Amino acid sequence: MKIVFATGNEHKLVEVRNILAGISEQIVSMKEAGIEVEIVEDGSTFEENAMIKARTIAQHTDALVLADDSGLEVDYLNGEPGIYSSRYMGEDTPYPIKNQAIIDRLENAEEKQRTARFVCAIAAVLPEKDGVRKELCVRGTFEGVIAHEIAGENGFGYDPIFYVPECGCTSAQLTTEEKNARSHRGDALRKMRELLEKEGY
Ligand code: IMP
Repeated sequence: MKIVFATGNEHKLVEVRNILAGISEQIVSMKEAGIEVEIVEDGSTFEENAMIKARTIAQHTDALVLADDSGLEVDYLNGEPGIYSSRYMGEDTPYPIKNQAIIDRLENAEEKQRTARFVCAIAAVLPEKDGVRKELCVRGTFEGVIAHEIAGENGFGYDPIFYVPECGCTSAQLTTEEKNARSHRGDALRKMRELLEKEGY
């Protein structure tokens, strides 16, 4: 069975292929599936945005479609940057600047107020059965705290300021395998895998 994953990001595809191996050996990106559409992510939650992406792609294929939406929620900043994580301070602003800005905004926060989490919602639109395309949605999380300094070279985005207490380092200091085993995306993908298995896939 073919799965189309709504992303242009090769790193995400590798992770998805690893975690969903067994359910499908043919997980392709939108591009590989020959689907080129403009997706307007105007939802107000991670789940809504993931579902918007999955439904848009599903209009162009009969295959099972998966889409994700993720971001960083900082509790002291009332959940910012949240669904605006990639757009925070402007899409083209380099992450070292965004990351330092978040550290600076937490200058007056007490240690216990530095909690944060990466969130990932994954939505699925299943192939048609009895005239309907069933939809599923799951949320995965990765809990941590905002570091006092930028540290680490691995990962991407906000990883260098995301301190993982049980590892004693930031998620940018974890290997890919260590991060995948704990990450919000890994968590959501494993939950989606369970739901798909219950659906008989
Ligand atoms: P998207 O789901 O690919 O649109 O990701 C949204 C944004 O959230 C990314 O551009 C990053 O800023 C942030 N983000 C999501 N997941 C991670 C992660 O694992 N590490 C660091 N930043 C992340």
